[in-house]
Amino acid sequence: MRTHRIAVIPADGIGKEVIPAGVRVLQAIAERDGAFRFEFRTFPWGSDYYHEHGHMMPPDGLETLRAFDAIFFGAVGHPSLPDHITLWGLRLPICQGFDQYGNYRPARILPGIAGPLRGRTGRDLDWIIVRENTEGEYSGVGGRAHRGLPGEVAMEVSVFTRPGVERIMRFAFGLARKRPRRLLTLVTKSNAQRHGMVLWDEIFAEVAREFPDVATDRMLVDAVTTRMVLKPGTLDVLVASNLHADILSDLAAALSGSLGIGPTANINPERTYPSMFEPIHGSAFDIMGKGIANPLGTIWTAVLMLEHLGEGEAGERLMGAIEKVTRAGKTLTPDLGGTATTVEVTDAVIAALGN
Ligand code: IPM
Ligand code: MG
Repeated sequence: MRTHRIAVIPADGIGKEVIPAGVRVLQAIAERDGAFRFEFRTFPWGSDYYHEHGHMMPPDGLETLRAFDAIFFGAVGHPSLPDHITLWGLRLPICQGFDQYGNYRPARILPGIAGPLRGRTGRDLDWIIVRENTEGEYSGVGGRAHRGLPGEVAMEVSVFTRPGVERIMRFAFGLARKRPRRLLTLVTKSNAQRHGMVLWDEIFAEVAREFPDVATDRMLVDAVTTRMVLKPGTLDVLVASNLHADILSDLAAALSGSLGIGPTANINPERTYPSMFEPIHGSAFDIMGKGIANPLGTIWTAVLMLEHLGEGEAGERLMGAIEKVTRAGKTLTPDLGGTATTVEVTDAVIAALGN
């Protein structure tokens, strides 16, 4: 029997509600499949841990995680701590330390879901947003000087490296190649950002030659937001920098019906390190503890994790179960216009898996 060892980090806010839901679903699908099993180990890292120990995870946290096949992650962020502390204490050290440079976020209007785009359904919005995940605007390079003085200065430097850009392009082209439409749109802001983003344009053109079977186009990030809203069907796979793709992926999730359903994969394609899987929604303190967080983002994330672990068939079955639940439309959380709880939606997905 194949065994997949999963590090589970629910972390903060509704992460603690949706990740246990995802674990239940993964256990259910493994039981039904019979050919593989999971070994889960849960880590209590996050903001509560910070208040007790002074750090978001232990100093040897990455070493501990390295032994796992994948990381199943909830969300970070707590009203009692500055966001940059929580983020740089847990999620970013994992993404950067494990060289998870290939972040991708599928967005689709699931059956039965009425997104905010009137009359649009599944076929009209079916995208993957590929996000460069280790450098760019999130490189952490910069500094502050003369704090509190009138001349105070802060610098936030975007770092773009040729190897960093080449590898994200190859990753994006590789994903686009597997899709029926095989279209990759490069998103930059190379009119205003004339160094790093121009490097993106150039490397995109170079790498495109290695993938003659993938159609390409280019768009500036401001213009692509209008295209996403007005002509969603003209897009397939998009590749963008760390910050641009961060913003576009929230828009994509909202256009597909709810921020509560979007999944994310943070991939180390070389598999030197474990990859990390998380819903995109964040800790959502406003609804924490109410039991109404949408678990579908986490369950869809579990589908991505199954694919990565080589359990693609099980992943397809799980995606089918999610779609069965949305199509029936009876068991949905409030963000999708329903009245169901996290546990009820999770039970419905497990029931939809059949035997
Ligand atoms: C995301 C989130 C994070 C990010 C936040 C929590 C810093 O918005 O995963 O999209 O910007 O990377
Ligand atoms: Mg984001």
